[in-house]
Amino acid sequence: MFKQAKPLLSKGLKGCYALPSFNTVNLEVSKAIFQAAEKARAPLMIQITETTIRYAGLENIFGIVQELERRAKIPVCIHLDHGKHLPLIKNCIDIGFKSVMVDASKYSLKKNIEITKRVVSMAKRKGCSVEAELGALKRLGSSDRHLTDPDEAKLFVEKTNCDSLAVAIGTSHGAFKFKERSKLDFSRLKEINELVSVPLVLHGASSVPKELVQKCNRFGAKISKAKGVSESDLRKAIKLGVAKINIDTDLRLAFTAGMREFFSKTPKNFDSRGALLNAQDLTQKVCEHKLALFGAKGKA
Ligand code: G3H
Ligand code: 13P
Ligand code: ZN
Repeated sequence: MFKQAKPLLSKGLKGCYALPSFNTVNLEVSKAIFQAAEKARAPLMIQITETTIRYAGLENIFGIVQELERRAKIPVCIHLDHGKHLPLIKNCIDIGFKSVMVDASKYSLKKNIEITKRVVSMAKRKGCSVEAELGALKRLGSSDRHLTDPDEAKLFVEKTNCDSLAVAIGTSHGAFKFKERSKLDFSRLKEINELVSVPLVLHGASSVPKELVQKCNRFGAKISKAKGVSESDLRKAIKLGVAKINIDTDLRLAFTAGMREFFSKTPKNFDSRGALLNAQDLTQKVCEHKLALFGAKGKA
């Protein structure tokens, strides 16, 4: 049975480590995530986006994760990442997600509160937790950057009764981040953590390790140099109250590097399973590294 988000997140807070929340898109990425977490004896949140649900089908991707969880010996929570459409959020709650994110961060504070409250009342009836977002992550090629305001965060959590809050403190989504490392606003994070009672979530936390980008490029990709969050900044963010960390991009880089490597090295091969297994292995290694970095190893 999937675990509730609450105990996993509050445990993380007390233990001064962050709950890893990895995005999955298919069987192989899911296996990589589960195998890494089991090996590390780490608690796990595994998350699925709306795009992945449209790609894989809700029942299919939920079924894969559910079956892996059934055999796992670690606590696992399944979470909807960046839910933007209420009917889809409802479908996730109905099928058995224990945690959903409602992302109404693009709207005004008032409208964000309104939408989040609707999701909270829908989710709570089914024993499902709600992560909300306030503020906007940095976006490449756009000057808009709206970091989370601490007082607004306090008000937002009080009004909505959400269970966790994603904050914008200087990170950005995606592989094509910035030439310079993301600079995190730690004093803002500290202030938010002091004012807000619920666990805080850090999105856009991939580091975009240069070895992974180089590996993709060595085997035919043309990924431009980018830098994500430094590992020391992530450690500091955990100490200052970040209880859940989202990673997608670094897993994508690992998975595609594994596929590219396999086909480049065996150009005559057309059995996709070899490439998928190579991709899975590389993804698992990245997950293992993150679990150690977030201090989640041995915390199951
Ligand atoms: O923050 C969310 C993801 O990294 C974007 O994922 O392409 O599955 O929508 P998506
Ligand atoms: P990255 O793109 O930095 O991996 O962030 C993922 C994320 O925030 C998913 O919600
Ligand atoms: Zn995100």
